[in-house]
This record gives sequence, C-alpha cells and structure tokens, in this order.
Amino acid sequence: MLKTEQDALAYWDQRFKDKGDVGWGSQKNSKWYKQKKEAVATALKTGKVKRVLDICCGDCKFIAELPEFQDGSIEYVGVEPTKAIYDQITKEFPDKTFLNITPSELIKTDMNNGQFDLIICYDFLFHIVEDDLYHDFLKWMFNRDNKCVIVSYDDVEKKDQRSEQGHYIPRVFDTTALGYWWNTTSTVKSAEHKSLKLHILQSKKRPIVR
Ligand SMILES: C[S@@+](CC[C@H](N)C(=O)[O-])C[C@H]1O[C@@H](n2cnc3c(N)ncnc32)[C@H](O)[C@@H]1O
Repeated sequence: MLKTEQDALAYWDQRFKDKGDVGWGSQKNSKWYKQKKEAVATALKTGKVKRVLDICCGDCKFIAELPEFQDGSIEYVGVEPTKAIYDQITKEFPDKTFLNITPSELIKTDMNNGQFDLIICYDFLFHIVEDDLYHDFLKWMFNRDNKCVIVSYDDVEKKDQRSEQGHYIPRVFDTTALGYWWNTTSTVKSAEHKSLKLHILQSKKRPIVR
C-alpha cells in the first residue's frame, strides 16, 4: 500500500519502466486523451495564453500535436517528478522546460514569481497519496495569481475509494471551496468513465475569456 509521495514515485517509476506509458488516459486512441487535448486547445485558441505550467505532465503527448506549442511563442514548463518519465520527455522535447521536482517541492517554490496564464493538472489529483498534500496542493494552485486552470478529477460520491495498491484515491472535488476568485467556465465529462471529469476554471480577476 502506498503511503507517501516517495512510495508513489517509486510506483510510477516502476510502472513506466514496465509498461512504457503513463496510463490509458494519455494514449492517443483514448477518447479521454482527445477530450483533454481539446480542452487545452480551447484555452490556447483565445490567444491569451503565453505561459503554461503542466503539473505532472507525464509523457505530454499533446504538446507535439497542438500547433500553438510549435512556434516557440508559448513558454511551456512541465513538472514531472517521476525520473524515468522525465528522462524520456527531456530527450523528446529538448526545446521545452521540464522540472524534475515533486508536487510537495513545487508548492514550496514561487516559480520565480511566476504567474501562469494556464495551469494544466491532468489525471494527477486522484494519485496524491497524502490528504494534507492534496489540500495544500489545491490551495497553491488556486491561490496564486494565475488566470486559468484546467484540472481533471474523479467525481466520486463517496469518499475514500482507495484502490487496493493505494495509487488511486478519488476525492470529492468541491469547486465552491475555491472561494470567490474562481469561476468554473466549463465542465467536460469523460466519454469513457462516468465519474471522470475536467473543469476549465478561470480567475475572476484575470480571466483569459471575458
Ligand atoms: C496518470 S499520469 C497523468 C500524466 C499526464 N498529466 C496526463 O494526463 O497524461 C499521472 C502522473 O502523475 C505523477 N504522479 C502520480 N502520482 C503521484 C504522486 N503521488 N506524487 C507525485 N507525482 C505523482 C506521475 O509521475 C505521472 O506523471
């Protein structure tokens, strides 16, 4: 049973070495992958996105598929804590910036006072093992002066449906807890898994779409 962030990273490292991918949701033939890519494309089409932070970016396939990422006009920073995945993406996308730091390290940095036009947080929330880190991470992501956050989560009704291995821990994601400053501008339901959803949230203070 995974208990700590370090346990989780050892799990993902081994899994990536064994299977060579980061899960069905990042495979090109999965509908969820296409839905996630479309949501990012929608944000990029506003023309207001110049700085992107992709948290636990995995193999970040869609950066090779979205034309907006090709001409260098958008700064893309991917955070990938699993070393085996990080080693692959740094080779595959040498013109992008990747940080091999953990989410608990990330929330202690100020990213050089970075404000991001877009934060992508796909298929990661339900893999956070520690409850405290889950809450601190959400606070960090939504309390900063960022403009738009696209986040996926598993919208379970009952709490604590931890998988047997402990690598999958869906939690109720309550957008009202995000406070006054964030608006959910759209929600996409997975075509494959009923409870899987993504939200596009915008800061009321600095939205990318008015
Ligand atoms: C299912 S993959 C999703 C990758 C990518 N965001 C996507 O949607 O295709 C989960 C990612 O989160 C990272 N990860 C999973 N659990 C983690 C944990 N508890 N702590 C830190 N990173 C974790 C893994 O390294 C992996 O990159």
